[in-house]
Amino acid sequence: STVDAFTAPLLAWFDVHGRHDLPWLHPRTPYRVWLSEIMLQQTQVRVVVPYFERFVAALPDVAALGAAPLDDVLGLWSGLGYYARARNLHAAARACVELHGGALPRDFAALLALPGIGRSTAGAILAQAWGERFAILDGNVKRVLARYHGIEGWPGQSTVEKQLWQRAQEHLPPARLADYTQAQMDLGATLCTRHSPACADCPLQDGCAAYAQGRTDELPTPKPG
Ligand code: ADE
Ligand code: SF4
Repeated sequence: STVDAFTAPLLAWFDVHGRHDLPWLHPRTPYRVWLSEIMLQQTQVRVVVPYFERFVAALPDVAALGAAPLDDVLGLWSGLGYYARARNLHAAARACVELHGGALPRDFAALLALPGIGRSTAGAILAQAWGERFAILDGNVKRVLARYHGIEGWPGQSTVEKQLWQRAQEHLPPARLADYTQAQMDLGATLCTRHSPACADCPLQDGCAAYAQGRTDELPTPKPG
């Protein structure tokens, strides 16, 4: 595999303009990547950062999380919302203690079997923690790919989501998977935003279908109804 016209400029942009100071990057352990991905599922980075720092200070690894009472975990989560995330995190840590020697498994199917971990989160953990060649497809990445490739249809629809996963797989570089994963999130959060994307500053402008067609405000297609 090679680095294509999407991935090469994205990685070069990330080196200069990406967010390199996020606390889960230093150190980028599987536990810290996992926790950050779960917190970031429904919550913005600036809100997550102090919660993340308190959480890892109190519960620094999978074994500590699994051994903690659920009430302690919910207390650390208090204010972040979507408390099922905290319950799943706790249950998953206990499963890791039972099944995987107290650590996250380095295996896609085993990660997917844990509570609260879906296809994109499992890929995000494998790519960021171990540099494995797995794609992600969260809301940010769906937006970037739908615009870049001019993919029509609501991304929540399975036929559309299938096309997006296909593109996400095709763009994977042969190396630098952790940086590549973070680069996509950073582009979606800082330039290719939902409203008024900063196409003038975007490293993907050359190949972007939505930009070429003046359709950045129409893609991705909104949920019908
Ligand atoms: N959203 C999900 N994962 C993220 C990450 N690693 N950095 C920033 N935003 C994210
Ligand atoms: Fe998004 Fe604009 Fe970049 Fe296309 S050119 S990927 S619409 S920011």
